Amino acid sequence: MTAVAAFEEGLGNAAAQYSDAFDAARDEPALRAANARYTGPNGLVTKLMKLMPELPKEQRRELGQRANQLKEEIERAFAQRLDGLLQAARLAELSGPSLDISLPGYGARRGYLHPLTRLKHELLDLFGALGFDIAEGPEVDLHENNFDRLGFPADHPATDMQDTFFMQQPPGVNPRATLLRTHTSTVQIREMLRRKPPLAVVSAGAVFRRDDDATHSPMFMQIEGFMVDEGVSFSHLKGVLTHFLQRLFGANVPVRFRPSYFPFVEPGGEVDVGCTLCRGYEVIHIPGQQPAALPGGSAEVCRACKGTGFMEILGCGMIHPVVFEHVGYDPERYTGFAFGMGIDRIAMLRYGIPELGLLYGNDPRFLTQL
Ligand code: PHE
Repeated sequence: MTAVAAFEEGLGNAAAQYSDAFDAARDEPALRAANARYTGPNGLVTKLMKLMPELPKEQRRELGQRANQLKEEIERAFAQRLDGLLQAARLAELSGPSLDISLPGYGARRGYLHPLTRLKHELLDLFGALGFDIAEGPEVDLHENNFDRLGFPADHPATDMQDTFFMQQPPGVNPRATLLRTHTSTVQIREMLRRKPPLAVVSAGAVFRRDDDATHSPMFMQIEGFMVDEGVSFSHLKGVLTHFLQRLFGANVPVRFRPSYFPFVEPGGEVDVGCTLCRGYEVIHIPGQQPAALPGGSAEVCRACKGTGFMEILGCGMIHPVVFEHVGYDPERYTGFAFGMGIDRIAMLRYGIPELGLLYGNDPRFLTQL
């Protein structure tokens, strides 16, 4: 067969076949494969083009033109078929099963307040209902407000009893000038400096000490309350605290007042509440002796109350005249009471938590149970 005849046959075959081949392609990859069989690097038409130099000169031009025309025809047909296939695919997508937007998604977990924050609000509300104003104070405070004005003499053992975190100071500044407050009693000083009696104030927030065991954490929360007016007496203190503790723990939980010492009160006391975890207060305990076996026959000593049956929850007393002098109140005219307590201690009793660390570990598996 002559080169011309072969060329003609190739052109004829390609022209006869491509249209059916394109129609038979059901999707884009199949169509592209079919197209490659004609115009790809090894395609029929491409191969014919390569045969051109072998054609006799007189026919080369005419045959070349026909080959080019066919190639363009195939390219147009390919583009058209591709367009059709893509449109059909899009149409199928649009008319097929739609995205079900009514399917409920994965709900975002809602945040919630930490149990200690909730308890703090509850305690503030309780005192608010008794007529106490709510005040706030800073966590970093002056040495004066935390110690001196409260009647702690310089180098009083209480300052190392409370083992304070002092803030770092630039050279030349007293290294004990500012500190992380060790108690909320700083707010007593701040409010009394700001206001004149009569006043009744509560305040709650974080306090810091170098303590860390089952019942102590280096950061914990306190709530402080105090009241100053003419004629305020210890019986007011007892009345307010007894009401408060009975509201909180129920009328049946034993409460005991013990004399105690704080530099800023005179007389001073501490209040213990019966341990709701072990109810060890039902067992007679003689101080200094091994605690008796706890109810329920457990040989273990309750970690929350250390087997004593009671948990100390607050300090209180009548505000010392020296404090009034430091804030410019007349100690001959005014008297007042103050109390301060650990909110976490109350939470331990309230929710039956044996380890303080659980409250500050922030494990949601634990916190969501409260
Ligand atoms: N500030 C004392 C403490 O943190 C508690 C207290 C407050 C005692 C008010 C008496 C009066 O231990």
